[in-house]
Amino acid sequence: MLDPFVLGYLQGRWSAVPFDSRWASLHLACMQQRVVVITGASGGIGAALAELLAERGERTVLVARRRAQLQEVAARCGRESLTVIADVTERAQVNGVVAAALTRYGQIDAWVNNVGRGITKSVTELTDDDLDEMMRVNVKSALYGMQAVLPHFKARSRGHLVNVSSLLGRIPYVASRSAYSAAKHALNALTASLRVELREMFPEIHVSLVSPGAVATDFGLNSLYGGIDSRQLPKAQPALEVAQVIARLLDEPQADLYTRDSYHDQVAGYYAAADMADVERRPPFAPTLRPANLR
Ligand SMILES: NC(=O)c1ccc[n+]([C@@H]2O[C@H](COP(=O)([O-])OP(=O)(O)OC[C@H]3O[C@@H](n4cnc5c(N)ncnc54)[C@H](OP(=O)(O)O)[C@@H]3O)[C@@H](O)[C@H]2O)c1
Repeated sequence: MLDPFVLGYLQGRWSAVPFDSRWASLHLACMQQRVVVITGASGGIGAALAELLAERGERTVLVARRRAQLQEVAARCGRESLTVIADVTERAQVNGVVAAALTRYGQIDAWVNNVGRGITKSVTELTDDDLDEMMRVNVKSALYGMQAVLPHFKARSRGHLVNVSSLLGRIPYVASRSAYSAAKHALNALTASLRVELREMFPEIHVSLVSPGAVATDFGLNSLYGGIDSRQLPKAQPALEVAQVIARLLDEPQADLYTRDSYHDQVAGYYAAADMADVERRPPFAPTLRPANLR
């Protein structure tokens, strides 16, 4: 059913509606129109974002591999959410997500590449397979998402791509996250490169990067070789807070955003240091742990 203010507008009675209410109603109507794809929506940040957007009346396409968990999230989101079981490290399956979303809704307004996975292994121990897995899940998955949805965005001359990175994609605070940190650095570079590539021809296609610090999810437990539960980390940010930052970013596109203001200053301080090694000796750089301590 149409919002009474929107209905009023359609009936030519728009000028009788107070300005603030008109703006709020139009905003709500636009939000209801939006279709947002979220990868990694069966848990953690992706699930929190899905539920938040659904509460606001937006239509969501939820992507992950675990069917039961994804369906639980979808049930909390209500009827306007579509689940797609897909492994986003497989390009064909990501293309399938685009097809499923367009079949159901006919449009995609925003695509959030949220899938990611950590690792608990120092640089000296990394194998080829470790590095390949980090690049597959943190970089290639997002590349496939960007490349799959871009033809649709270009055809409409608008859209919003959001890549979820990490503070570790700017500063290698935790040496045992090694290849994860490297992969997120690569994701950051691809994100900025795409933004620059599109800016002249497609100014209404926004490309954003959002970088959380520690977040209280299963991320640590899901990391390759396990590791510390992210929920136990001091000052771990609630997933809902991160979701709120991403939701705001979808409303007001911005190139590069941290999920806490203090992270921006930390990054600026690290790169401005005359000798980065001085910064690396101080917290919040994590003390070096032996592998045995990590398992
Ligand atoms: N939590 C943190 O401390 C933290 C900090 C900074 C940045 N981040 C970033 O935030 C994002 C979300 O992390 P999170 O904390 O929510 O992690 P999480 O709790 O481990 O959730 C990861 C999500 O990704 C899905 N997923 C993993 N591999 C997939 C694949 N190959 N194909 C499809 N779905 C896949 C998982 O679902 P299925 O297993 O069902 O597929 C799950 O829904 C990641 O990019 C992460 O790097 C997290």
